[in-house]
Amino acid sequence: MEKKNLDWSNIGFGYVQTDKRYVSNFKDGAWDEGGLTDDANVVLNECAGVLQYAQTVFEGMKAYTTEQGKTVIFRPDLNAERMVQSAKRLEMPVFPEDRFVDAVVQTVKANEAYVPPYGTGATLYIRPYMFGTNPVIGVKPADEYQFRVFGTPVGPYFKGGVKPLTIKVSDFDRAAPHGSGHIKAGLNYAMSMHAIVTAHQEGFDENLYLDAATRTNVEETGGANFLFVTKDGKLVTPKSNSILPSITRRSLVYVAKEYLGMEVEERTVPFAEVKEFAECGLCGTAAVISPVGKIVDHGNEICFPSGMTDMGPVTKKLYDTLTGIQMGRIEAPKGWIKVV
Ligand code: PLP
Ligand code: COI
Repeated sequence: MEKKNLDWSNIGFGYVQTDKRYVSNFKDGAWDEGGLTDDANVVLNECAGVLQYAQTVFEGMKAYTTEQGKTVIFRPDLNAERMVQSAKRLEMPVFPEDRFVDAVVQTVKANEAYVPPYGTGATLYIRPYMFGTNPVIGVKPADEYQFRVFGTPVGPYFKGGVKPLTIKVSDFDRAAPHGSGHIKAGLNYAMSMHAIVTAHQEGFDENLYLDAATRTNVEETGGANFLFVTKDGKLVTPKSNSILPSITRRSLVYVAKEYLGMEVEERTVPFAEVKEFAECGLCGTAAVISPVGKIVDHGNEICFPSGMTDMGPVTKKLYDTLTGIQMGRIEAPKGWIKVV
């Protein structure tokens, strides 16, 4: 497969239009057979449900070129399953999980020239999404929907690659108890725009959101879950009903236990405990594992012993093992790698 002539090692996290995308429409209670198209534009009625009441959900995963030169996708079945949960919560029709995986595979295959070569540090980010298309003016779910998948080659999510991040404890809340924080809906990200612009203006890379009910426990950031490492080498990661169940985090919990023999605690993490941890990182499809060097809470700085220049040693081991599995250098658990 001849690859596109892109500067793979220097691309950022942005949109690059690729050749083909997948589209399927839902009408009269059923999905059509769907297929690939060249048309990157979506034309909608002015009153489409998604435009008025933000009825949209999405997913994110990546395709990689392995050391062996194969194109693979990391755990797309889990994205398919999570999109079902997201759609149900917003009263949208479910896109069947097997069709979701097939649509993702078709999209990657049709854009294989954009899957970055092995060793460049870049990957193909895959974005499935679904939205209400017919006119809706009273507050109610749409009757018609479109499901699409496109891919875009991406580099590191945070500028500076793997340099430790500085995080602000946000004054805003991301998600309410019993709200929509646990699903991947555009509305959660719309909610976070003011908070992230504010954080960036103040010189921070990201926000740490506390639980909205008590503002005492660590939830997540706008686009990734938290990982902490204790001074005695345990992995601790927040458990909450209002954070997104990160597939990267679930994978890392397994990797920590089964590959690295670590003890893992998935539990409520009081913010007051954060100053005791040795290392901190963010994990997600886009973030992979991004180290955190400092968390600032209204002027009070928590500086992790791992410092501001390098990833902490345990974070690094987790990073190397996960990316090794994704890029075919380390044997993957059964079912984790979908070969295109
Ligand atoms: N939390 C939020 C709010 C996210 O947007 C993401 C990104 O998908 C994650 C966590 C990480 O989830 P995953 O590892 O499934 O990509
Ligand atoms: C992802 O990691 O897939 C996300 O959706 C996060 C987003 C901030 C790009």
